[in-house]
Formats: sequence, structure tokens, C-alpha cells
Amino acid sequence: VSSRASSFGRRAAEYDCSRPEYSSEAIDLAVARLGLGAASEVLDLGAGTGKLTRALVERFARATAVEPDPSMRAVLSQKTPCPVLAGMAEAIPLADDSVNAVFVADAFHWFDTGPALREIERVLRPRGGLAVLWNNWWQAEDPLLPTRAFDLMEAVYERVRRDSPHTGETDEWRRFFEGPPFEPLHERRVVSVQELDAERLVTLHLTGSTLAMLPPDEFADLERELRRLIVGDYRLAITTDVYWTRLLPRPGPER
Ligand SMILES: C[S@@+](CC[C@H](N)C(=O)[O-])C[C@H]1O[C@@H](n2cnc3c(N)ncnc32)[C@H](O)[C@@H]1O
Repeated sequence: VSSRASSFGRRAAEYDCSRPEYSSEAIDLAVARLGLGAASEVLDLGAGTGKLTRALVERFARATAVEPDPSMRAVLSQKTPCPVLAGMAEAIPLADDSVNAVFVADAFHWFDTGPALREIERVLRPRGGLAVLWNNWWQAEDPLLPTRAFDLMEAVYERVRRDSPHTGETDEWRRFFEGPPFEPLHERRVVSVQELDAERLVTLHLTGSTLAMLPPDEFADLERELRRLIVGDYRLAITTDVYWTRLLPRPGPER
């Protein structure tokens, strides 16, 4: 795992309490479109601390979580009543044909797409589904962040992206669904609103992989400054982008 991909565990507890939940509407949409029911068995891949896993455990007969980072996994195991496995998308520790669907929330861009999709295909049952969710929480704050706070974070983003570029943060991954073994991707955007105070908003921003890359001293200075500058209550307009697809029927013998 590259260093940014493995940086989340440095702030696993903060990640779990500050990141917004995935909206039920978004999850239910994927569940319905993939034809899943209560008896379905699913995998949450790159499950982090279990933010989506917990919603899957409530809906399905069996939800398994796979996560490479030990600190994220520790929170996940503690808070989520389901099997939790160490593993990566490119080497999923599950048997062939073992789940009806794979869910990936805010993690697909960290995967090596080709090998990960081959693994997802392997663990899926015939006509199995894949749901990819993204929670975009940083785009619309009301009120807007103070300019000085915004500029401080932006300067770090620019520097880390330059020093540690991550090509996965583009739409490139969608290209892998232009042909078999998956049907073309479907997509839908679901909007929800979250109210939170400044303390949680700052903690939330500090859970991002980019800021987590800072040396501890610089991170502490940034945190102190953000907590001084950002005060009051905020409303976030969260957009959840939901993508779903299913395996195409396997070619059968010619009749
Ligand atoms: C932004 S977090 C999302 C976690 C969780 N799915 C959620 O929605 O809260 C990204 C997660 O992907 C995991 N990850 C990074 N590279 C991975 C890989 N190659 N295979 C599986 N998981 C990976 C990280 O350890 C991290 O927990």
C-alpha cells in the first residue's frame, strides 16, 4: 500500500467518529439495483473502521469486512459484529464464488484497478454485483470556512499532491468497466445534509489522507491554527455518488 493509502490508520479513532455516515438512501439504492435481499452475503472491501460495514451487517445474512490497515481494523473489529479479515483488494482473502456482492466505499481509488477487479470477479457468484460509493463532504460548507483556514489546508494539499501524487484520484477507474466481465456502470447522486460543530469539522478535515501525511509537529501546528480559526456550527451538503454494476452472464455452451 502506498504511504497515502496507508495513512488513514494514523487517525483511525478520529476517522470513525468524524466521517459522515453513508446515507441509507444511497445504500438502499445500490441494494435494490443489485437485486440483493436479506439472505445475501456481501463483502465490504477496504472497510476502514466499518462505517459502511455496520449498515451492511444490519441488512444482510452475512457481511465480511476486508481491510489492510491494522489500526483501522482494530476499530472495525471492536465496533462491528462481523468477520474482519486482513487483506487487500488485489489479494482478497475469500474463496472463489463466495459473495453475492462487493461494496467499496471511499476506497476504490486506492486499489490497483486491474488486479483488484480480477479479484472481485473471482470472489463474486455468477451475476454478482459491485457497488462503489463515494461520500463527498468537503464541497459545500455553510458558512464557508474562514479564508485563512481554507488557504492553510490548500497549501498542504498542493504540496503533498506534488510530492506524493496519486493518480487514482481521477475518473480513470471507470474505463475498466467499458467491457466484460462487468455490465456498464450505472450511477446516481444522492444528496444529504449534516449539521456539525467546528470541533468535529476540524477533526473531519484532519482525517484526510493528505493532511495525515504531515510530520507530527507540522500537523500539530496546523490543528492548533484550524481550531483557533474555525468556530461555530456548520452544515455540510454531502453528495454520495453511487455506482453499481453486475457480472455479465458467464458464456455457456452453444446450443
Ligand atoms: C477513506 S478510507 C474508507 C474506509 C471505509 N470504506 C469507509 O467508507 O469509511 C480508505 C480505506 O481503504 C483502505 N485501502 C487502501 N488501499 C487498499 C487496498 N489496496 N485494498 C484494500 N483496502 C485499501 C485504507 O486502509 C482505508 O481504510
